[in-house]
Amino acid sequence: MAKKILVTGGLGFIGSHTVVALQNSGFDVVIIDNLSNTTIDVLNQITDITGIKPDFESIDLRNKGKVKSFFDQYEVEGIIHFAASKAVGESMHKPLDYYENNLSTLIYLLQEMRDRKLDHFIFSSSCTVYGQADKLPITERAPVKKAESVYGNTKQIGEEIIQDSCTAYGINAIALRYFNPIGAHESLKIGELPLGIPQNLIPFITQTAAGKREVLSVYGEDYNTPDGTAIRDYIHVVDLAKAHIAALKRLIEKQNKNTYEFYNVGTGTGSSVLEIIKAFERANGVKLNYKIVDRRAGDITAAYADTTMANKELKWKTKLSLESALKSAWEWKKKQE
Ligand code: UD1
Repeated sequence: MAKKILVTGGLGFIGSHTVVALQNSGFDVVIIDNLSNTTIDVLNQITDITGIKPDFESIDLRNKGKVKSFFDQYEVEGIIHFAASKAVGESMHKPLDYYENNLSTLIYLLQEMRDRKLDHFIFSSSCTVYGQADKLPITERAPVKKAESVYGNTKQIGEEIIQDSCTAYGINAIALRYFNPIGAHESLKIGELPLGIPQNLIPFITQTAAGKREVLSVYGEDYNTPDGTAIRDYIHVVDLAKAHIAALKRLIEKQNKNTYEFYNVGTGTGSSVLEIIKAFERANGVKLNYKIVDRRAGDITAAYADTTMANKELKWKTKLSLESALKSAWEWKKKQE
């Protein structure tokens, strides 16, 4: 039996794009997903894009027994772990659910790796671990700050759990600290599927452009930035997906310098909310109805990546423009209507 790459949360937004990238790079994939924030249809869409149906197991990773029997059944060469809850606001109301879902599942996977002497673990982390960094662009040397949200804390604690496991059990792992992933696959067969009212900027923009929301609220224009609105580093999800392949290959080919490494994955360019609105309008020839409102609690002023480390060590860099990301996000949205 060929060894497979396990992708947990492989039917989610970043997970599905990463499965496609893995298959395109010749990897055999098995997906675990509990369908809590996606649909089984994504599996067929992935199959349509690549012509290869990945194996799929509908498992909730909180079920330790099921996790164990999964590994009895499959030979796994590496794990890319996306499955997690990710709504910042919700995490503040349901801290125990978030700690359980994001950390117990991570622990069960690492326990199986330890017990079965498995290797090569890639973790979905976030630039949120830096909080408001003192210096921009943000390098990997920037200190990890006290998390502003329970969600952010699960990423910080998750990284610590992995690091300690690498030290104790000789597992090799890489955490990728994502900046703001946006866009959709060029085939328009997979993309972001936010449930309910979107919290993130781009899904809110596309829903407003589609007439589903009346007006986009711009959270604050009194930030210390050139136009007063907050700055983020928006990365095309297809570029982000490819960073996972680069990281996985680094581990499989034993190119890593430490058993635990972490990299910033962004474009290196910051855009303000108003710049994104203008760029979206320009790229797609649509007008957006927006208004300025108060700041959103917990938001930072500015974050964008220094990508030097990822470029050099992972031999990866972004190829797709902000414009193409915003175009694909809009095309994807129109296709859902
Ligand atoms: C958020 C999370 C971050 C998480 C990421 C996942 C917070 C504080 N941070 O990042 O931890 O990793 O999502 O994708 O929630 N904005 C508007 N109007 C809107 C929505 C957003 O003006 O309707 C602004 C925000 O104030 C922010 C920017 O757009 O300045 C981006 O917001 P968002 O897409 O939610 O991402 P982050 O807050 O950067």
